[in-house]
Amino acid sequence: MLITPNRRDLNTIVILNPKGGCGKTTLATNIASFYAKQGPMPALMDCDPQGSSMRWLDKREAAQPPIHGIAAYKKSMQATRSWQLRVPNETKNLIVDSPASLTHDDLRALTGDATSILVPVLPSSIDIHAASRAVADLLLVAKVDRRDNKLAVVANRTRQNTKSFDKLMRFLSSLGIPIIAVMRDSQNFVHASEEGVGIVDMPGYKVQKDLDELQKVIDWLDSWPNRRRDLHDTGVSNKPAGNVTVLHNPLINSG
Ligand SMILES: Nc1ncnc2c1ncn2[C@@H]1O[C@H](COP(=O)(O)OP(=O)(O)OP(=O)(O)O)[C@@H](O)[C@H]1O
Ligand SMILES: [Mg+2]
Repeated sequence: MLITPNRRDLNTIVILNPKGGCGKTTLATNIASFYAKQGPMPALMDCDPQGSSMRWLDKREAAQPPIHGIAAYKKSMQATRSWQLRVPNETKNLIVDSPASLTHDDLRALTGDATSILVPVLPSSIDIHAASRAVADLLLVAKVDRRDNKLAVVANRTRQNTKSFDKLMRFLSSLGIPIIAVMRDSQNFVHASEEGVGIVDMPGYKVQKDLDELQKVIDWLDSWPNRRRDLHDTGVSNKPAGNVTVLHNPLINSG
């Protein structure tokens, strides 16, 4: 598994969680559509042999703002591979969708050049357990340093005020990793994925709540130069980055 060469003006956003079905592709395609609408043209790299992101891109109509697709999972000769993986010069955001079940080598290759890493997590016990393994692997195997401020969690398909939501928040707070958004369980995401669009392309009155949460993800992503500068200016920083809403578990905070 190979990611593009590091380019200093490129936010390389890797979305990963080896647990299947937690919302990696949904998050990747919605972030890509958001940046496409905003411009300049983002790139969406699909590292998953299932090719879900590329299938979504195929459904996209020509009238939609363009997204540069990179089918990184396709086997090809080394010479053409470097060409295939090239990111357009204008692109400022590269979104990388990753497969379920990653080897440790895959994990290192995927995260080596990442400037932002998003882990979507579902609120079931099985998913929370899998997510804790995934985060532990990111910290211990891929050597992602939490103080680099490049790792964040997006709670997905979550109903607030449920026991499982509390459990999820408790787990993440205990790791000190920011939960930057809580996406609700919403058919808007299902419809968007079927139509090759993002929620950003759907009528505002239908998607406003979902869009508010996506905006929090975008705000955190866009803060990446500040997150990096924090690191360079002060050696290390434990502060949450810039203009970011970090959700706290009220149970933990009050205790
Ligand atoms: N917030 C949400 N609300 C409702 N449905 C959702 C939401 N997020 C994802 N889904 C649906 O859940 C299913 C799995 O999502 P998705 O394909 O994004 O997961 P994934 O992590 O990419 O899966 P895989 O590991 O197989 O690649 C899809 O049918 C998707 O439409
Ligand atoms: Mg997927």
